[in-house]
Amino acid sequence: MYLVIHGPNLNLLGQREPDVYGQLSLEDVNQQLKELAEELEVEIMIEQFNGEGKIVQRIHRAWQEEIKGLLINPGAYTHYSVAIRDAIAGVDLPTVEVHLSNIYQREDFRHKSVIAPVVKGQVSGLGLDSYLLGLRALVNLES
Ligand code: DQA
Repeated sequence: MYLVIHGPNLNLLGQREPDVYGQLSLEDVNQQLKELAEELEVEIMIEQFNGEGKIVQRIHRAWQEEIKGLLINPGAYTHYSVAIRDAIAGVDLPTVEVHLSNIYQREDFRHKSVIAPVVKGQVSGLGLDSYLLGLRALVNLES
């Protein structure tokens, strides 16, 4: 079982700044992830949280469960959440970080990811494909 975590504001996908994040809704993204998981013959669980503490708690719980790896879009927390970074560093779960938009092309405050140093890899700027490529990579890490 793999866990996908969407961070804050991603529940508004499709309505929120469509020029930056695209027209797809979170449901659309989740549907594509589920289809890919089927193709790869793996199971996934998908959750979205707006709060930092909820994400930290979910990561801790994942460690107790049979979770093989974590695919995470930490949203704005990417840029400053030492708590989420420490949660990822503290659990022994291979993690891939994804972003719909290219964070290095945007405002200066988005250029830094405090999460990147503790994950296996990052996919940024490819919209839905960031998630799909991220999931493929995560599954490949494990096999
Ligand atoms: C994001 C990029 C972040 O800077 C932003 O705060 C988001 C979404 C992305 O997927 O492009 O909420 O993680």
